[in-house]
Amino acid sequence: MKILASILALNIFAFANTTMCYINNITDISTVENKKFEGGECAGKYSIKDMKKQSWNVDDIKISKKDNGFNFIYILKKETKSVVVPTVSNTEIDYDKLSNNIKNKEEQNNKVKSLSNGKKIYINKCQSCHGAKGELTPYNRSEAINKFDLDTLQSMMRDYTMDERDNGSAIVMKPYAELVSKEDIDGIYEYLKSVNK
Ligand code: HEC
Repeated sequence: MKILASILALNIFAFANTTMCYINNITDISTVENKKFEGGECAGKYSIKDMKKQSWNVDDIKISKKDNGFNFIYILKKETKSVVVPTVSNTEIDYDKLSNNIKNKEEQNNKVKSLSNGKKIYINKCQSCHGAKGELTPYNRSEAINKFDLDTLQSMMRDYTMDERDNGSAIVMKPYAELVSKEDIDGIYEYLKSVNK
């Protein structure tokens, strides 16, 4: 199944305004920033000083000498606040593939967990009698347990807990059968399989 998902992204933009103001035929350079400038945001109304009060910063000044004085061009910049612009894009997601991937990952994790749990239990609780690879025949009452399939193993263990199995030494084995859960036996089975490869 494919589902259409809307993905929301927030993009932050910072804007800077730029304007260009000019004044011509200036003879007294020292007072130029007090005079009203033409063009741009100055528009014949504001001096550079006024513009600075309105948060404009001088970015560049170009001066040229003319016959009757100096011509000035000011480039002014003003940082405006950054704005957050949300954009929505529609993307097709393969739902089945996604959920399969998650399922596989989970299964893998569970296998690894179960195997390491089984290994721990087998080494601590079973190995002394049944051997490192389940190859021994304790008391000559048990076969090598590494050859049984999972169902057989599960039912043998269950039978010991219910006094329904006894080759003559069940009294030795029963406490160990009672010690482990069905899931533990799954892990023990996986462990025996892994060491008998
Ligand atoms: C103290 C020794 C000992 C320990 C520890 C032990 N077992 Fe056993 N196990 C035996 C004996 C003895 C038998 C045979 C019992 C009987 O006469 O039915 C047996 C039988 C079995 C059988 C049946 C095999 C058959 O051929 O009938 C299984 C399966 C088994 N054990 C699994 C385990 C597992 C799994 C553990 C660890 C959780 C474990 N045992 C711990 C001694 C032990």
